[in-house]
Amino acid sequence: MDGRKTMGLKSLIICAAIAGLAVVQTLPSTEPGKPRVQEEIFGFPADEQISYYLQNARNRTPIFVPGKCADNEILYPGDHESDWVCDCRPGHVYYPQMNKCYPLFMQGFCKPGEYVDVMRPSMIVNCTTNVCSGQNMVPYDGKCVELNRHNRICKRVGRVYWVIGVNATTLELGCVPPDATTMLHRVNGEEGEDEEPIQFEGANRCSNGTRTKYEGLC
Ligand SMILES: *[C@@H]1O[C@H](CO)[C@@H](O)[C@H](O)[C@H]1NC(C)=O
Ligand SMILES: *[C@@H]1O[C@H](CO)[C@@H](O)[C@H](O)[C@H]1NC(C)=O
Ligand SMILES: *[C@@H]1O[C@H](CO)[C@@H](O)[C@H](O)[C@H]1NC(C)=O
Repeated sequence: MDGRKTMGLKSLIICAAIAGLAVVQTLPSTEPGKPRVQEEIFGFPADEQISYYLQNARNRTPIFVPGKCADNEILYPGDHESDWVCDCRPGHVYYPQMNKCYPLFMQGFCKPGEYVDVMRPSMIVNCTTNVCSGQNMVPYDGKCVELNRHNRICKRVGRVYWVIGVNATTLELGCVPPDATTMLHRVNGEEGEDEEPIQFEGANRCSNGTRTKYEGLC
């Protein structure tokens, strides 16, 4: 009986392997690194590129897909194999009064001359008077610096200049890699049909500032 079970399992594994092979073979790549999905497999005739990312249970990195979530939100893997949940992008905070996510250190829902901030240790989102003036200027380390710019302060890694931005873990200003921000600008600028979703490696739905965290669902 045990033997038969093992046999059954073995043939199941072999079947799965063959099925997996068949699926892999029906995924021709038009460009290297850009997997394509035929609509017969998953039945998504529209934006097949995006469907690939959303259907693929192995790919559980948070992603930005144009038009899927509200402003300043990205998709995070949900609790089940293939569900996705919208929540605030890294460096953004959920403001319940407006039921929206806002970028920290920008005016957002605040009055001119103020920026969105978090009170500590309560982590309640509120407005803070900006002691710096000028577009995108914020106080950092006793100086006024421009948000999302290198400011001759941050390091350079290879050819990439890090910028003053929001550290998604601490929700404080610091030097951060520019990737996510610049990539989002690229997408917003192009509105391309065949645009590949932007991956937010390391983003966490339960970071301070998210709606999930605010609602105590972590
Ligand atoms: C979130 O905020 C609280 C309160 O400021 C802090 O104690 C905690 O360390 C923060 N969590 C993370 C992951 O940084
Ligand atoms: C938010 O800021 C306003 C104006 O500074 C202040 O009156 C209010 O107490 C603050 N709320 C919290 C929860 O910190
Ligand atoms: C954000 O802050 C944490 C805690 O200070 C630090 O470990 C991390 O390296 C910072 N992230 C970046 C991108 O600098």
